Amino acid sequence: MLMPPPAADGAIVASGDDAPFLAWRTRELARVEAAGLTYLDYTGAALYPESLVRADADRLTRVVLGNPHSLHGPSTDASRDLDAAREAILGFLNGSPAEYAVVLTQNASAACRLVGEAFPFGETSTFALTADNHNSINGLREWARRGGARVCVLPLDPSLRLDDPVGRLPVAMGPSLLAFPAQSNFSGVRHALSLVDDARRRGWSVLLDAASVLATGSLDLSQVSPDFICLSLYKIAGYPAGVGALVARHEALARLRRPWFAGGTVDWVSVANERHQLTAGAHGFEDGTPAFGAAGAVALALDTMRAADRPAWACHVLTLTARLLAGFADLTHANGAPRVRVHGPSTVVDRGGTVAFSVLTSAGEPVPYWDVEARARDAGIALRGGCFCNPGCAEVAFGLSEARVTACLDALGDRFTVPALAACLDGRPVGALRASLGIGSIARDVDRLLAFLAADA
Ligand SMILES: Cc1ncc(COP(=O)(O)O)c(C=O)c1O
Repeated sequence: MLMPPPAADGAIVASGDDAPFLAWRTRELARVEAAGLTYLDYTGAALYPESLVRADADRLTRVVLGNPHSLHGPSTDASRDLDAAREAILGFLNGSPAEYAVVLTQNASAACRLVGEAFPFGETSTFALTADNHNSINGLREWARRGGARVCVLPLDPSLRLDDPVGRLPVAMGPSLLAFPAQSNFSGVRHALSLVDDARRRGWSVLLDAASVLATGSLDLSQVSPDFICLSLYKIAGYPAGVGALVARHEALARLRRPWFAGGTVDWVSVANERHQLTAGAHGFEDGTPAFGAAGAVALALDTMRAADRPAWACHVLTLTARLLAGFADLTHANGAPRVRVHGPSTVVDRGGTVAFSVLTSAGEPVPYWDVEARARDAGIALRGGCFCNPGCAEVAFGLSEARVTACLDALGDRFTVPALAACLDGRPVGALRASLGIGSIARDVDRLLAFLAADA
């Protein structure tokens, strides 16, 4: 099932034959075709294979699961499923249980919050984050500020890659945190993971956002050692939604200071004496009752994706990305002007299958993304529009960082809408479209988008 990878220099090689992948797609995602859909939002969520949900429905009809905080049989069975889920997640990342713990969360955002609210930020601390980050990382700056930390943003160059991040990272003075995504959910750029060890050597703790990269890529914790990693299962396998994880080095977890306790996180609580003792390790971070019904699906999901031959799909997705980029470059108006502008790299070097773009008029003006998004939706093409919860990339891509934007945002207040902001900025683009490929994508999906854009006036 292996296909040749794109040329190492990033040259665009559009390749046709995706027959082996088509077979998987036909078997596992027949519902997509039945719905008349062209699904191009894998960075939003992967699509679950049918065999996975059938296997899980079968599992659920055979087990009796109870609240894991009780001690009866159904409860210990639920606890066993939760342990198996933690183990499967760590195995998926090739992490050692001697080094890493897995905290089950609702999603990647909840994992980020666990770090932000408990990181020992103080007046000697810095929170450094790359301009390319999802809002679930950007929001950590509020915890950092609350603790008195300095916040510093590592900038992007015009191609939306990091601009000398190591050179800009000082030696950490107090407890300091660096957060960045392994893969951008805006541009698809894969940032160099060597930054993790460079930063740790300078005394930083590192939170690596793996939510987006794990759609087709891998993270090998025997090769790279972030202190914290966040992820969501639905981005990997489309299922189970509502399960994510914070994977943390044991010593990094021990440095966190939880601001509260909840059911399930304590050895004991005294109301009369206003004291409590947090449970050591991962359990001290799992607030309330974890998703015990879904936990049994985690290993199933990860095994199903492994059996689908993820490395072959990763290669295929990159080949399709090359096809998409080449197709965009070929789309021109009658006057020769380009119809599409790509935001981010236009080659497949160090990137995943996520491509942000704007549609242009023959005069070179961007067409409002929401118009294209709506027409695409009517044509059964699922694209994402906006800034994809990644305003830092949007600010660089559209030059939105100056005072005029702030003035517009202040003036709009709670009347803010994206079209209103664009109008205040005299029609300047404030968002883009995003096509993202994943496990299940075939050449026809790319070709349908290209045909739609070619026909769209
Ligand atoms: C890079 C990245 N980080 C974090 C998140 C947040 O994930 P979730 O919504 O599952 O918490 C997303 C979601 O799209 C993402 O793409």
